[in-house]
Amino acid sequence: MNIRQATPADVELAARREPPGADIATRHFARQQRGEAVYLVARDREEILGGELLIIDGNAAGIPEARLPLLRHLHVEPAYRNRGVGAALMAAAEEVARERGFTRVSLIVGVDNPRARQLYLRLGYVPTGEQQTQTYTYVDQDGVERQATETGDVMVKAL
Ligand SMILES: CC(C)(COP(=O)(O)OP(=O)(O)OC[C@H]1O[C@@H](n2cnc3c(N)ncnc32)[C@H](O)[C@@H]1OP(=O)(O)O)[C@@H](O)C(=O)NCCC(=O)NCCS
Repeated sequence: MNIRQATPADVELAARREPPGADIATRHFARQQRGEAVYLVARDREEILGGELLIIDGNAAGIPEARLPLLRHLHVEPAYRNRGVGAALMAAAEEVARERGFTRVSLIVGVDNPRARQLYLRLGYVPTGEQQTQTYTYVDQDGVERQATETGDVMVKAL
């Protein structure tokens, strides 16, 4: 497995696993192209195992309470979970943040996502006590656009 900044070829591979019209990888890549974020993908031969976005400026992303930078959209394909891919993506994102001179990174974990929270605690993230509620639209497995509201806890790690 290799973790790297996404290339157009990676985006094409990642998009194959998405519901039609979801455009998740394409939108992540566009943010990377605009310099707002770094889109990291875990790739093994012709498979994208997972990905994550390091948003360079959390304020620019409209999340003023979040510390900068902000890790978002960590996702590992179900078939490849529990093998350390998620932790490896987090480590790679932290390394990029460190290289860019940041001394802290933040993230927001859904209050109903104990698995991700456990991973972040194990990796040294500490809850700040702040919460964020966000409403966003997404395309479900059937290609239907839906709206969701999620509340999450802000967590921070000193690099
Ligand atoms: C949360 C998520 C990214 C974790 O990805 P993952 O690749 O399974 O993560 P890891 O394998 O690095 O770690 C997960 C667990 O597996 C364990 N693990 C890691 N490597 C392992 C291995 N080789 N063998 C057995 N277990 C292993 C870890 O101890 C960890 O357990 P813990 O966190 O309870 O201590 C994944 O479940 C996911 O995509 N979920 C849906 C999207 C989501 O919730 N994203 C987070 C948004 S905030």
